[in-house]
Amino acid sequence: MIDDRTSASQTSRFARPGTGWTEVGRGLAEAAKAVAAHHHGAPLPSGDPVSVLSAVTEAVGAEGIPETGIGESEALRRMARLVAEYGLDLTHPLTAAHLQPAPLSVAVAADALASATNASLDTYDSGPATLALETWTVQSLARMAGFGPQSGGVFSPGGSISNLLALMIARDHTASRLGVDVRHDGVAALRRPVVFCSRVAHFSVHRACAALGLGESAVVGVEVDSHHRMIPEALESAIRKAGDVTPLAIVATAGTTDFGTIDPLTEIADIAERHEIWLHVDAAYGFGSLFSDRLCGLLTGIDRADSVTLDLHKVGWQPAAASLMLLADAGRFASLNRSVAYLNPDDDVEAGFSGLLGQTLQTTRRPDVLKVATTLMAYGRRTLGEMLEKCNDLALYAEQRIATELQLELVAPVTLTTVVFRYRCADLDVVNGELRRRLISEGTALIGRTQVRIPGEDEPQTCLKLTLLNPDATQSDIDALFDELLRVALEVESEGTDTQSEKMVRVSE
Ligand SMILES: Cc1ncc(COP(=O)(O)O)c(C=O)c1O
Repeated sequence: MIDDRTSASQTSRFARPGTGWTEVGRGLAEAAKAVAAHHHGAPLPSGDPVSVLSAVTEAVGAEGIPETGIGESEALRRMARLVAEYGLDLTHPLTAAHLQPAPLSVAVAADALASATNASLDTYDSGPATLALETWTVQSLARMAGFGPQSGGVFSPGGSISNLLALMIARDHTASRLGVDVRHDGVAALRRPVVFCSRVAHFSVHRACAALGLGESAVVGVEVDSHHRMIPEALESAIRKAGDVTPLAIVATAGTTDFGTIDPLTEIADIAERHEIWLHVDAAYGFGSLFSDRLCGLLTGIDRADSVTLDLHKVGWQPAAASLMLLADAGRFASLNRSVAYLNPDDDVEAGFSGLLGQTLQTTRRPDVLKVATTLMAYGRRTLGEMLEKCNDLALYAEQRIATELQLELVAPVTLTTVVFRYRCADLDVVNGELRRRLISEGTALIGRTQVRIPGEDEPQTCLKLTLLNPDATQSDIDALFDELLRVALEVESEGTDTQSEKMVRVSE
């Protein structure tokens, strides 16, 4: 890595194609060495959030930005050491908390390439190659969803934003059918706009409604069955009961965050069609099932959606973000279109020099497509499908292990790669919550938690969750994870209510 220079003209500070990129590679190699030397070797560092904050602040300098820098190599080395000592290791087989997989090496390399080009997707002249790649990738994924040649789509900064974009387009499309120009007049011109989704749909649907000026009260939560799937009859009756409203969309979930369950897409599509309501499928988690011959049947009916959210930074093993919003009819992007003199003047567009400004709320937009296209080319559908199947097998194995442990209770059957369960004890909420925190502060295993309405119990209960997205993990790793969990659970239970959090509060007093 080049160190401090006296003159920028001697050697460029920029990631120039060729020599500049070689410097990037050298910088990465140095960072990798520092990570290897200082890695804590566990899912998380041991210690509490306060000690991590103070160690990191001390390492970067409590006084803030230095007047004189420490040089490129040293800065990179220090950052690498920080993430090694205090960061999260997603490749560790006992890391199983969130829909946050370890990224594929090839995708990381391609993502660095995307950063090095710093191309943007808004105009042709901001990066022609990545613009063409986005078109290829969107078309390829839309074809996987079963969409026809008139379909389109766009990359977005995450599943939440893809849901927002889809609901915005649904709102604008529905309004324009009713002769209302929402873009100009706002949503006040719509009579009681509502969005239907299941009670366990992702909270980003509610946030999107707030952001779109509809208010979170526009969300009509539809009842789910014992497998946490939307009940079509309940949807039908919710639509009827809603009365004199403007239905903007039905959001079906293909892969609920906690349970991985998939709403009955075909039945929901029939209802959407009958009532002429936009159907959005939030397949942020579940879309990857289409890579697998064994699991793709779970998504039957997705081809009947008007729009789909998919996140390849979940099942797809991409560094975040790698989200897309697909549209069955690319013409529906119309309400997002803008003619901006300095970006896409009409004569440039007519001559074919146009970008993708009109398909998103962003202007500058990073070419996340580069890592996705590289991964799809490197592995093809089959390898990605096999990776998902391995994770699904691990989840099924975890389900079996839970069945053999008296102290553990399975809360929902496995569909994809999550396993929801709880530790049986007298003080369920306190012990299950404390148990997870104890694992985090010891750093030995990382699991998730959630709240579930369990039949027969009045209030939602705290449950534990494994999100298994590491196809390199083995059944022995799953056993090791449960052994550790049970060891810590016994420890927590035997301490009664004298929890780690209470101890921390006492120490800080
Ligand atoms: C079903 C579902 N939709 C949307 C999202 C939001 O995705 P992101 O975190 O990329 O914004 C998630 C995140 O877990 C999800 O599980």
